[in-house]
Amino acid sequence: QMKKNQNITPYLPAIDQAVRRLTKGHSSAVLWFTGLSGSGKSTIANSVEKKLVESYCAHTYLLDGDNIRNGINSDLGFSLSDRSENIRRVGEIAKLMADAGLIVLTAFISPLRVDRDQCRALIGTDTFLEIFIDCPLEDCTARDPKGLYAKAQAGEILEFTGVSSPYEAPTRPDLILKTNQQTIEACTLNVIEILTERGILTGKHKVNG
Ligand code: ADX
Repeated sequence: QMKKNQNITPYLPAIDQAVRRLTKGHSSAVLWFTGLSGSGKSTIANSVEKKLVESYCAHTYLLDGDNIRNGINSDLGFSLSDRSENIRRVGEIAKLMADAGLIVLTAFISPLRVDRDQCRALIGTDTFLEIFIDCPLEDCTARDPKGLYAKAQAGEILEFTGVSSPYEAPTRPDLILKTNQQTIEACTLNVIEILTERGILTGKHKVNG
């Protein structure tokens, strides 16, 4: 019987990472923001994305928990297994977008170390940057921007991260941002710094500041 995959010749892409880096002025990356609900992941990720676009003409895309959970992941809830599947899919999507040459920013609680480690392994250590939005539970509870901590404490939301569901802090994150001690602007600059240090941002298309 004939082999089904006869006469297949893998095609070397004409446009590879080196070409993208040259045309875009930066390498691709996945900036993986992790932290409690209300810790500031979306705020910092949005601020970093704005800076990357405005000051570096970077090609970016932000994947945000509350948005993704309304779309492709609308079939998932908040059990630990649903969260794992949420993060697995986000990792796969982020990988594709990074292959397309983008600087991808993800803002998901991603409470389990094993799930984040799987994303790192999938995407590659050089491309995946784990950024721990380190804000104490008391501060997140006090901020309670969506009123969810109050509901969780009243038992109206089950399996709420930090209250009735675990959060495993990163052990060796690429960057720690303490949003209860640093300004948004300082946190943003810390991210830009590490991207420059790692050679992801080249400054080729830098606009100002
Ligand atoms: S994750 O744990 O799977 O990574 P994700 O970041 O996508 O979570 O979604 C978290 C957001 O969903 C929170 O910011 C909050 O607005 C909302 N949410 C609703 N229910 C819960 C819950 N039980 N635990 C945590 N967040 C919840």
